[in-house]
Amino acid sequence: MSTELIEQLDALAARYGNRFLLEPAPDDRLPDHGMSATDAMRLLAEELVLDGLPMRNLATFVTTWMEPEAQRVIAANLHRNFIDHAEYPRTAEIEQRCIRMLADLFHAPGETTGARTQGSSEAIMLGALSLKWKWRERRERAGKPTDRPNLVFGGDVHVVWEKFCRYFDVEPRIIPLQPDKYTIGPEDVEPHIDENTIAVAAVLGTTFTGHADDIPGINDLLVTLRDDRGLDVPLHVDAASGGYVWPFLYPDSAWDFRLEQVRSINTSGHKFGLVYPGIGWLVFRDRSDLAEDLVFYENYLGKTDATFTLNFSTGSAMVLAQYYNFVRFGRDGYRFVMETMQRNTRVLAERITGLGPFRLVGADDEEQLPLVAFQLAEERGYDEFDIASQLAAERGWMVPAYTLPPDADHVTIMRALVKLTLGRSMVDTLAEDIADACATLERKGGLHELDRRRVKTGTGY
Ligand SMILES: Cc1ncc(COP(=O)(O)O)c(C=O)c1O
Repeated sequence: MSTELIEQLDALAARYGNRFLLEPAPDDRLPDHGMSATDAMRLLAEELVLDGLPMRNLATFVTTWMEPEAQRVIAANLHRNFIDHAEYPRTAEIEQRCIRMLADLFHAPGETTGARTQGSSEAIMLGALSLKWKWRERRERAGKPTDRPNLVFGGDVHVVWEKFCRYFDVEPRIIPLQPDKYTIGPEDVEPHIDENTIAVAAVLGTTFTGHADDIPGINDLLVTLRDDRGLDVPLHVDAASGGYVWPFLYPDSAWDFRLEQVRSINTSGHKFGLVYPGIGWLVFRDRSDLAEDLVFYENYLGKTDATFTLNFSTGSAMVLAQYYNFVRFGRDGYRFVMETMQRNTRVLAERITGLGPFRLVGADDEEQLPLVAFQLAEERGYDEFDIASQLAAERGWMVPAYTLPPDADHVTIMRALVKLTLGRSMVDTLAEDIADACATLERKGGLHELDRRRVKTGTGY
């Protein structure tokens, strides 16, 4: 388009509407000419209308709503680069406060260390790297080979654990799930451990069903192996979702540094830490659990800065938002929020089982994230994927249907997260909408083959 025409359009747009309405959105090369700020903003807004509504996304563990005051903190600090510790020393201090608070919440026995990360995935990569480095140090000291490290975990972990193994050259020893057991315990772990095992990873609140691995049982096994066979294998807890749930809903349940072999924990501030996406945490039991080789010391503007991260420049806003939540809610507030979610979870679970065709996954008294995992109790003319699709078509709810990892891959589950955006009246509405979707499917049968191919089959994160 010529400059002259663009100017004319801009003049008309300023008076009557937006220029972008007449043009296809730039999509393959940087446009020669820009557009007004209002046009650019509206173009983006129009595109995003086609996305799902985050508030109706019951697949995600990640926060979709924060208080207006928290949003103001975030908006006011988007320009603050977190890595510039010398320029923003209070931001760096606030990160340290968050780490100390989490370490205390997780019962660290003394002074410790940790890091702000982009999410649990970065925290896991860093934590697992430290485990690999520490294992190598131990092997070198003993004059033993260091070329075949392995990591033991269950099929119920998030994909990031396999990713770590592939990226950082560690053999994954994945314990398959069983047809009726979707978490792992000591008896599953034991046969896989040997002197090359850098660690066992256990999950507090799995992505698939929201339950926890038997972390105390695995800890006991590792203590016995250490005492009886001299095999000192650390335990890392992936508390991506559970780290902010268990301390408040199940405070007497020991899964954290109360257990002696637990050396490091990751958690996602942007999940039940109640912060928008972009914040995770890695916390060590003890300063000595962080492999010194992973720390970089830089002289920055006359101050020595120790960095321990896979990224460099990144935002500060979510660190500050996490601290906002900590001081805003405190222990009481987090407990109230978690109990609110749990109460609504129970109501939703009752409403869903009351509909007739469904049963819950897991026992009533099992510790679990605030979510309802359910499935059809018997075969019908439609399945869970059909229901997920029908529910999305009728009301826009995003409730995923997926199959479990091997060897439970014949099991299909639906799962609805119950967060603060799903209050009591929305719970009732959702249950009615599930009933309506099933009624439609009873009348018309399952989806057409073509529609089936479009159904999303991932868990959501
Ligand atoms: C158990 C578990 N670990 C790790 C992750 C990855 O976390 P993030 O999305 O914060 O990187 C998830 C995400 O769903 C998870 O559920």
